[in-house]
Amino acid sequence: MRFFYTALQAGRLQFIEKKIKRRCDLRIDHIGYLVKNIDRAAADFVSLGYAPRGEAQYDEARHADIAFLDNGAYVVELVAPRGESSVAWKLLKRNGVGPYHICYEASDMDEADRTLREQGYVRMLDKQPAPALGGRAVAFYTGRNMGMIELVEAGGE
Ligand code: NI
Repeated sequence: MRFFYTALQAGRLQFIEKKIKRRCDLRIDHIGYLVKNIDRAAADFVSLGYAPRGEAQYDEARHADIAFLDNGAYVVELVAPRGESSVAWKLLKRNGVGPYHICYEASDMDEADRTLREQGYVRMLDKQPAPALGGRAVAFYTGRNMGMIELVEAGGE
C-alpha cells in the first residue's frame, strides 16, 4: 500500500512538473471571507484569537465593508457586500458565507500577471488600488483548478 501510494505520488509529481511553464514565487498575504455582517463576523474571529487591524472600512469601488484581522500567523479579510451592485453580492448569494479567495503578495505585479495568464488564469478584475490595504494595488483572477485568487503588490507591513 505504501509503495503504491509512493508510486502514485511520483506519477503525480511528474504530471505537475510537465504542466509547469513558469513558476511564481508568491507568499500568502490573506484569506478573504465573504460575510453578511462585518461586526458579527469580526467578533467570531476575535473569539478564535484574531485581533482587528484597525477599523472596518467602506470600499466604494466594491460597495462592501472590509475588515482585516490578524492572529500572528494568518490574516483574514472580511468582505460584507452592502447591496446588489457589489461584485461580492452574487458570490455571497451563490456560495453563502465562508472563505472565497486567497490573496498572494507579488513583488512584481506585472510579471505575476503575465505568469498567471500564461498558465490559463483569467483576470476578473484589473489592477486597482485597494483602500483597505493602504492603497496597494490588487487584481483578481480565477483558475480552472483553484477558483479565485487575488494578487496584491508587496510593500505592506
Ligand atoms: Ni482580498
